[in-house]
Amino acid sequence: MSLFIYNVSLYTICIPDIEQILLLDKYFMDLGYEDRFVLWDKEDFIYYLSRRDVIFTVLKKEKIVGFCLSVINFDESELYKIVVDKSFRGKGLGKFMMLYHLGSLKFKGIKISFLEVSSKNELAISLYASMGYELVNIRKNYYGTDDALVMRKFL
Ligand SMILES: CC(C)(COP(=O)(O)OP(=O)(O)OC[C@H]1O[C@@H](n2cnc3c(N)ncnc32)[C@H](O)[C@@H]1OP(=O)(O)O)[C@@H](O)C(=O)NCCC(=O)NCCS
Repeated sequence: MSLFIYNVSLYTICIPDIEQILLLDKYFMDLGYEDRFVLWDKEDFIYYLSRRDVIFTVLKKEKIVGFCLSVINFDESELYKIVVDKSFRGKGLGKFMMLYHLGSLKFKGIKISFLEVSSKNELAISLYASMGYELVNIRKNYYGTDDALVMRKFL
């Protein structure tokens, strides 16, 4: 079965796609984070999809099985979200999507990608470390009782 990967904007996406993205984003809740830090509603996604300084990448089979998005600031960017559908995890798709996403950023002249991750999110941290992100700062108790790790990768 084929798998498609591409960058989307509000002009290339339809409402069912946004509903699927919302469902995927809810998986963050499994990690026990507080809503106010991570869970976006439909309007949030529509807002980010409409911004020109945002790269929004989706992985699609029959439905969207993963997405990630970065916000650009001059020649730097910040990865705001990356999620792969639970039943598709551990198959290399997160890494594949990140590689495509970072390639798109580099193509736009972006030189650095920053991100922030909970110190308890071991899977995400090993994904980022395996892609060459390095730890540059720790924000104590940023997620309630969890620290936030700030990581950086030169593109
Ligand atoms: C983090 C996430 C996107 C990774 O996606 P994935 O498709 O499962 O990841 P991949 O299969 O591409 O694996 C990438 C790397 O992660 C690590 N990894 C993945 N599964 C792992 C496991 N079960 N045990 C240990 N490391 C693992 C490995 O380092 C792997 O690289 P390698 O195969 O070259 O060794 C996915 O787990 C997810 O959606 N999590 C919930 C949302 C989330 O936490 N997002 C990050 C918020 S900052």
